Amino acid sequence: MKYHNEIQRRRSFAIISHPDAGKTTLTEKLLLFGGAIQTAGAVKSNKIKKHATSDFMEIERQRGISVATSVMTFEYHGILINLLDTPGHKDFAEDTYRTLTAVDSVILVIDSVNGVEEQTRRLMEVCRMRDTPVIVFINKMDRDGKNRFDLIEEVEKELSIQLHPMTWPINSGKDFKGVYNLHAKNLRLFAASTKAEEEDTLQIADLSDKVLDEKLGERDAAILREDVELVDTVHGELDSTLYLAGKVAPVFFGSAVNNFGVKEMLDTFIRIAPTPRSRETSKRRVNVEEDKFSGFIFKIHANLDPKHRDRIAFLRVCSGRFERNKYFHHVRLDKDVRFSNPYSFLARSKDVIEEAFPGDVVGLFDTGNFKIGDTLTEGEEFFFTGIPSFSPEIFKEVVNKDPMKTKQLEKGLLQLTDEGVAQLFTQFGGNKKIIGCVGELQFEVIQYRLLQEYGASVEFRAQPFYKACWITSNDASKLQDFTRFKSSNIAEDKDGHVVYLAQSEWFLNTERTNNPDIEFHFTSEIHKEN
Ligand code: G4P
Repeated sequence: MKYHNEIQRRRSFAIISHPDAGKTTLTEKLLLFGGAIQTAGAVKSNKIKKHATSDFMEIERQRGISVATSVMTFEYHGILINLLDTPGHKDFAEDTYRTLTAVDSVILVIDSVNGVEEQTRRLMEVCRMRDTPVIVFINKMDRDGKNRFDLIEEVEKELSIQLHPMTWPINSGKDFKGVYNLHAKNLRLFAASTKAEEEDTLQIADLSDKVLDEKLGERDAAILREDVELVDTVHGELDSTLYLAGKVAPVFFGSAVNNFGVKEMLDTFIRIAPTPRSRETSKRRVNVEEDKFSGFIFKIHANLDPKHRDRIAFLRVCSGRFERNKYFHHVRLDKDVRFSNPYSFLARSKDVIEEAFPGDVVGLFDTGNFKIGDTLTEGEEFFFTGIPSFSPEIFKEVVNKDPMKTKQLEKGLLQLTDEGVAQLFTQFGGNKKIIGCVGELQFEVIQYRLLQEYGASVEFRAQPFYKACWITSNDASKLQDFTRFKSSNIAEDKDGHVVYLAQSEWFLNTERTNNPDIEFHFTSEIHKEN
């Protein structure tokens, strides 16, 4: 319990959304409130407007210089907030999924005009796998969006989560008049603001108060009264234990670009969002309050500048105290490592730190010692679970165009896949190397980086696979037979685990039916649990 106070004042979370819903804008407003930036427009959007590699490279180059944007740490009302950035582009979804393993809660932004979109659905699936607590921010209320009740129903149905309105909007689009805070019982009239200032609210404990008619007009006041009565009857008080269990999501309405409705959410966030939580490992549950240090690597960021080939590994502290220059145990490599220049990401600059506590993210210079999922401890042998690889969706064979550079290519492929840019499979019996990614853009990135950073020139040849399934069986001989009969569809992942590459859902289902003794898994996590 040595670090109890440090743990209690920390909140680590990520903002997630479908691209364009307003994640970057909301991030910026939160940083304004936290005093981490002074003016709007300071946060560069990391979204990729066109599907072009050059855009991605440009963005990555900027990010390479300012890795600080990957984690933003700021203080608000005495609470230390670690906001972890996630890439907006769906081709980098796996990076986002992994970042979600390092946070304790999320804020989900939904565009009031578009409602639930493809990425919203996928991201929520990942949150549900871990029962991550979610707060929903329904953005762009200044635009003519969907009906408020329909929106709530759509989100609940599509994302299978119960919503609990915390604020309630009065109209939308050009008639948007503001929000009524159901919890604090006050009214805030819509006005655009670009600063982080205390906001004028009007306390209206009793909704029959005539002031409401004066401020909103009789018609809108009547609608609000009716709405609130309905919402109160259905939802009642927020049960924060259900929120913490990931079952109920408090929802706020606002307009991020106008800095409206953001403060209400942030104030609630610091009140109810979870403090750093205890975590499962391969051996036992690590209590966040334990004195001994433990943590894991959830992201590796390469510097794209060939003159500076360093990488930064992002470590999430799970228990105890991380200290500069102290030796910690790298479980996978079974060796002790120490760090003379660990970084934290306070405000927008990188600062060398002396110590860090659970919930914090530390940037560690890495020369190739780390891969995603690596665990550091004070000597104990375990690794944190719940950091799976997901099945890729596009598969391509790597064709080496320059046999003189075979060694460089092998090294490049290993390092890039350690970073989690893509997954590497080697086909059984042959030497065919297959790369699996979530999106096409990643192949362009890999091709570019192999050439720029390793001098290796490659082409890709499309492979007719739709999913990679990690296969296991209690009967070793059955597994062996299966891999022999299906050898053209069998590969090994980088850790030597056997993978079945299915051509289509139909093939997969057929194999499942024909081979009841074999289990097909869509994530690699199964191996860590064994
Ligand atoms: P993302 O990170 O989720 O991809 O979204 P981002 O914040 O970049 O916002 C996407 C677009 O939506 C931006 O416009 C942004 O200004 C706009 N936006 C964000 N919040 C609101 C809101 O509350 N109301 C309205 N009407 N628009 C909002 P853009 O034209 O793509 O970029 P920009 O030129 O404004 O930077």
